[in-house]
Amino acid sequence: MKILIAFFSATGNTKKIATVIKNKLKELGVNVTSVDITSYSSRQKELKIDEYDGIFFGFPIYSMRAPRICREWLHNINGKGKKCSVFFTYGGFGKDPAHYYTKQILDENNFKLVSSAEFVSAHTFNYSGWLAAQNRPNQSDYKIAEEYTVKTINKFITKEAYIPIEYDKPIFSSEQLDQAEKYRFHVITKLPTRDGVNCSMCGLCENICPTKAMDAEKGLADLDSCISCFRCIANCPDQVLHTNNISNTWEKKLEFHKTTKEGIDRMVSKIYI
Ligand SMILES: Cc1cc2nc3c(=O)[nH]c(=O)nc-3n(C[C@H](O)[C@H](O)[C@H](O)COP(=O)(O)O)c2cc1C
Repeated sequence: MKILIAFFSATGNTKKIATVIKNKLKELGVNVTSVDITSYSSRQKELKIDEYDGIFFGFPIYSMRAPRICREWLHNINGKGKKCSVFFTYGGFGKDPAHYYTKQILDENNFKLVSSAEFVSAHTFNYSGWLAAQNRPNQSDYKIAEEYTVKTINKFITKEAYIPIEYDKPIFSSEQLDQAEKYRFHVITKLPTRDGVNCSMCGLCENICPTKAMDAEKGLADLDSCISCFRCIANCPDQVLHTNNISNTWEKKLEFHKTTKEGIDRMVSKIYI
């Protein structure tokens, strides 16, 4: 059996889960290849799927869906009737629409989605002063990732007729989420900007930007193409890139996780099968 894992991971959480899945598959004696589609150039190459018996896709959740650039990338892949699964990492807030809207793309593109999963992970906005889901994913999340891998492989192998998973229709339409995406990107968190004189001008921020939005010379990201993934901030060796501090909004967010049933439930990683 040959399995492909294709994942996007700007700050490393989704990559951690992809690695656990890869190691579990190896332990099970499965032949596995993984492809990291975070860089701009990797998403320009055609994803060759013909030789694989099943595909795992891994994405972070941005504004309750897979990031726009991942959805656009997925739109261009013909699934040729292959079985697949999608796993998400998210910061403990909105996440349900990600399952529904990603399945919609996969259905349209002739993939057969057999399972999905969501893993609680440190929120990217912790780089802006939040303290959401710090130290996640942890060992318990990794255990769930291993269980998800085993259950999904069994679904890839089975000769039984394919029964699609049904997700509840989200209360938010794609158009509403498009608006939320724009608002989050450029109003809540501001563009990554160089701040400080200790830049060694290594150019790493520009080279690793998934959307080619960062200009190392200017020390500023482009408003239209930046997706606020903070890959540049997370990886700057001189630590001179920053966004604005939004820690003042954290208390209210913390209330949600501490006091509501929904908030407590969102701190648990889950498998849908
Ligand atoms: C622009 C943006 C929007 C996000 N929106 C959500 C969201 O709606 N719900 C949530 O729980 N986490 C959200 N997150 C947090 C990420 O899903 C989470 O930190 C994820 O694990 C990052 O994955 P990575 O480290 O592989 O890049 C968002 C992060 C970013 C950068």
